[in-house]
Amino acid sequence: MCGIVGYIGDNSALDVVVSGLEKLEYRGYDSAGVAIYEDGGIHVYRALGKLAELKKQLKGESKGKSGGIGIGHTRWATHGKPSENNAHPHTAGRVSLIHNGIVENYIELRDELKAEGCQFSSETDTEIAAHLLNKYLEEGNEPFEAIRMTCDRLRGSYAFLAIDSQHPDRILVAKNATPIVVGISDTEVFVASDIPAVLGHTRDFLILEDGDFAEVKIGSVRIENNGEPVERPVEHITWDPVTAQKGGYKHYMLKEIHEQPMVIGETFRGRLNIEEARIHLGDVSLTQDDIQRIDRIVLAACGTAWHSCLVAKFYIEMLTGIPCEVDYASEFRYRTPVITENSLMAVVSQSGETADTLAALEVASGKCHTLAICNVLGSSIARKVDHCIFTQAGPEISVASTKAFTTQLVGSLLLALHIGEQRGEVPLEKRSKIISDLVHLPSAIEAALESEEQIKQIAKKFHSAQDFLYLGRGTCYPIALEGALKLKEISYIHAEGYPAGEMKHGPIALIDEKMPVVVVLQKSDLLFEKSLSNLREVHSREGRIIAITDIQGHQELHDLCDDVVELPYLSEELSPLVLTVPLQLLAYYVAVLNGTDVDLPRNLAKSVTVE
Ligand code: F6R
Repeated sequence: MCGIVGYIGDNSALDVVVSGLEKLEYRGYDSAGVAIYEDGGIHVYRALGKLAELKKQLKGESKGKSGGIGIGHTRWATHGKPSENNAHPHTAGRVSLIHNGIVENYIELRDELKAEGCQFSSETDTEIAAHLLNKYLEEGNEPFEAIRMTCDRLRGSYAFLAIDSQHPDRILVAKNATPIVVGISDTEVFVASDIPAVLGHTRDFLILEDGDFAEVKIGSVRIENNGEPVERPVEHITWDPVTAQKGGYKHYMLKEIHEQPMVIGETFRGRLNIEEARIHLGDVSLTQDDIQRIDRIVLAACGTAWHSCLVAKFYIEMLTGIPCEVDYASEFRYRTPVITENSLMAVVSQSGETADTLAALEVASGKCHTLAICNVLGSSIARKVDHCIFTQAGPEISVASTKAFTTQLVGSLLLALHIGEQRGEVPLEKRSKIISDLVHLPSAIEAALESEEQIKQIAKKFHSAQDFLYLGRGTCYPIALEGALKLKEISYIHAEGYPAGEMKHGPIALIDEKMPVVVVLQKSDLLFEKSLSNLREVHSREGRIIAITDIQGHQELHDLCDDVVELPYLSEELSPLVLTVPLQLLAYYVAVLNGTDVDLPRNLAKSVTVE
């Protein structure tokens, strides 16, 4: 999720690249760097921290300089902690290169390049691409050929920009599974991960497609895909700069909801061994012996992350047979919890900075193995734990968490499957089935996003209700809790999540013709009938029912409900992720209709670093 910018033209390349990075800082902010070709060589400047740190280092550098070629990067660490050495651009010989994405086979390539005498100065997956490109250029290959040969060796998702000191009239570009656009004008050319980076300079863009290689010069953009020359149409962009920053969406929250198919894929990418139906978790070094000894798993987190723990408990108990308990971090830290050396303490946190979660972790540190499912490499929690599964959601800007939640569920499923497999609890066939379902999850989430129009209509019907009740059973109960939390956070409407079976022990008293009841229904033989009878109870008290379900065409359900949102069914394990999406959209559209500040709801902060 890093931000990348490149420029060739008559203006100061340094100024254009740095101003582009300013517009992309939301994509990553742990370090930044630029490489500028000037006076016969490439000059690289890099700094740890926000872009402001790089700008301090660059103070005065752009004075008196005009024209040139440059590339710049704002980083969101995936491999290698945030540090100046790990900041991009990475340089090898005559090449400077920046990258957004993940190179999955970087360890084997690094070993190969080391054996050939390459010296590495960072822990990143990116640096191997700089070395490969330098090697192929030094062997006498044309730049375009050399970037193609480089990418032929890589597995994973990437967008690369590279400059070669011996061909300082061009930027070499490769794109696979992460976005790249080329902005054009008569005298300048721009390359960027996002349109807003350079929208102040041009409105004409070529949008590259997966598998494209390009050689970008002023007045010419050569593109090939699959060995064939291709042309990409020029798109004229009319967005205003603020909309552009949000990728054309009105709010970051909506953008982040729509990013879920991509970031879910990023979270499992490189971690699935499909042939052997195993999970590879690079940053989890628990040995088989350690795993055999675990007799209890304790999960702690706050807010949305705590809801993800409630689903994780199902995964863990179902796939590992190990008892699992879930606690609010703020409660756990002040109890006297029983932690033994055979416990595994796992915390879940998007930011990796939540004070209560960090404190809960400290209670267990040194007593047992600790693990985090976390989105921010280099964060306090990620540094403190023994083992970490990084979700690959990228920076989450909207205060209301969406893509972090669904990637946390993927992270916890991977963990449960790994432990279950190591303990011999999950037969090969079952592992294969879960893994193959996981591969189909991004497209099921895409399909769930297609409910958006229907959700808008539902929001119109119910946005002025004063209270909402959300019901679910099994893994749908935490999803109901999460749906209710999203609604109250951003629309300020009171909403309560409840296990559907508990309804008649109290909440049923609230139901009348004014109360919308959102029910999350999973296709499960065991629980579906039971949930249906809860709905009959709501219906007979004139409650208004909105069903979010992966059951298709169930007549009685349609008869009982005001609205039924039907989604594709993937599997028992993955259904909760698909069912989450319409609830996020419902909260979003109700808030928009009620005119609240969706991305920055009152009284809330993105990262709660105080108690
Ligand atoms: C809700 C939300 C919060 C966070 C909670 C924990 O939309 O974002 O409830 O989930 O503050 O934050 P992290 O995951 O950063 O520890």
